[in-house]
Amino acid sequence: MTLKKLVVGNWKMNGHKSDLPELRAISDVASQQNNADVAICVPATLIEPAVNAVSSMAIGAQDCHANENGAHTGCLSAAMIAECDAQYIIVGHSERREDQGESNVDVKAKAIAAMGANMHAILCVGESEAQRDSGNAVTIVVEQLLESLPDIRNDFDGTNLSIAYEPIWAIGTGRIPSLDDVAEMHLAIRHALVEYYGDAGHNIHILYGGSMNGSNAHDLMKIANVDGGLVGGASLSAEKFAPVIAAA
Ligand code: PGA
Repeated sequence: MTLKKLVVGNWKMNGHKSDLPELRAISDVASQQNNADVAICVPATLIEPAVNAVSSMAIGAQDCHANENGAHTGCLSAAMIAECDAQYIIVGHSERREDQGESNVDVKAKAIAAMGANMHAILCVGESEAQRDSGNAVTIVVEQLLESLPDIRNDFDGTNLSIAYEPIWAIGTGRIPSLDDVAEMHLAIRHALVEYYGDAGHNIHILYGGSMNGSNAHDLMKIANVDGGLVGGASLSAEKFAPVIAAA
């Protein structure tokens, strides 16, 4: 089964109101093709201005708290993010797993919160360089995935959850795994999803992330079970992002 490609930009801690014209330019690129859904996950301060500035792509957030409200200074609930008309929330990015010490249990709760607020959760998994070198990357990532997956199965059709496979050592480094290694990992993730969710597992997009750019996107997107990309650095300008969107 071939899913419509999904290309998501992750702006991380980049972007000010002065960058809204760039978002508009990316939205214009997205409007020119129908073969992929495009979204940009911006810093929380930009969600509402971005939603108001663009018309041809979705806007998302980069994190949410698992609880609906309460004494959590500095945090945002999924419902608060939904109120700004965001449609996606990234959960479990390796930078948050490392910087904020988020565990698989935390990530699972955040994914459930995001989906419960009627948003699409993009759940990130990926191995470190040492884990890749150990030869056990597939086993390790599938284990991380199974511990992070939302355990909701009733009425779940897979359309509001995506998995982003992001080898940590490939993020922001310009290095990517071999295409065979990407194919092997994405197939293992697909098998795990189908085993866990049944047929709904076929509807879940599996995105590749980590130094995806205009030069490698075409080859990566052709791989079976690579249903799109999660793109950091190359999503920051329309000029760099356009070839990635075109490759989809
Ligand atoms: P990168 O980041 O494309 O800059 O490697 C991807 C990500 O961290 O989501």
